[in-house]
Amino acid sequence: MKILVTGAEGMVGRAVVRHLTRLEDEVTAAGRSDLDITNRDAVFHFVSDGGFEALINCAAYTDVDGAESESELCYEVNARGVGHLAEACRESSASFVTISTDFVFDGTKDGFYTEEDAPSPRGVYAQAKYEGELLAREGHPECIIVRSGWIFGRGGTNFLSVLPRLLGEGRDIKAISDSFGTPTFGDDLAVALRELAASGSKGVVHVVNSGEGESYSGFAAHVCSSGGFDPSKVARVSSAELERPAPRPANSRLATVRGGLFEPLPDWRDAVDRFVESEQR
Ligand SMILES: NC(=O)c1ccc[n+]([C@@H]2O[C@H](COP(=O)([O-])OP(=O)(O)OC[C@H]3O[C@@H](n4cnc5c(N)ncnc54)[C@H](OP(=O)(O)O)[C@@H]3O)[C@@H](O)[C@H]2O)c1
Repeated sequence: MKILVTGAEGMVGRAVVRHLTRLEDEVTAAGRSDLDITNRDAVFHFVSDGGFEALINCAAYTDVDGAESESELCYEVNARGVGHLAEACRESSASFVTISTDFVFDGTKDGFYTEEDAPSPRGVYAQAKYEGELLAREGHPECIIVRSGWIFGRGGTNFLSVLPRLLGEGRDIKAISDSFGTPTFGDDLAVALRELAASGSKGVVHVVNSGEGESYSGFAAHVCSSGGFDPSKVARVSSAELERPAPRPANSRLATVRGGLFEPLPDWRDAVDRFVESEQR
């Protein structure tokens, strides 16, 4: 398959490029310096010149707290930039897959959010990502919007991704115990993104590792047992104690009702074990 990956130097982008390369796809990996998705003309030229069958968009403004003071930039990338890619793909008859977030939900539901639940995003990042979903559908009605959450992986800079390294260095960690999500390994997400890009399906699809989900402190506890780290280094705190600028859903666990579109991802604990093992190599 001839595929363009945008945001190819980010955590998920790199995982996707590694996977496509293993499959011997003809992959073009475009980092921000190769293709800035906010540059509409550049996007249209890049996509039409490339003759791609599919585009997997991993580019995004991902600083959830920073977005509260940089809302224009966040909307430029996460909303309008996604719209440019969608339109360019429709014009070139390429399939378009873009990644959205569990943060489009407000977190008040008990249990898992499915594709049938109505989004109610809170905070600039979440609202811009949801606007990106709407512009993606407007620009390319056949597009696939993959909502995922609590993504961790090699090269990631978020809490989940840096835990094995910090715990390995013997650092003290504060982990939130009253916020729940469905942890997802970038390497596993990459497999589903490729399957969906080739599937001919469309619409919103939730993709996360299997299992009941966890809190950040529960995730940290599993990282400790997986990597042989000292669990007493992990202090449980409440989200209120951390006083972060952006609101976050207290429960953003995702599940899909669209079974059959992609191979279900392994249990998140198995994913953490593989991640920790690769970090310790
Ligand atoms: N990480 C999570 O827990 C999580 C959860 C739910 C959904 N997601 C979504 O998953 C996707 C991938 O996220 P990630 O975790 O891989 O984030 P990431 O590591 O921050 O990667 C995002 C990449 O996009 C690039 N980028 C930013 N602005 C750009 C622009 N204007 N044009 C082209 N590239 C640009 C960034 O480049 P710079 O580094 O130069 O800025 C970075 O390489 C995003 O859509 C994100 O919203 C992530």
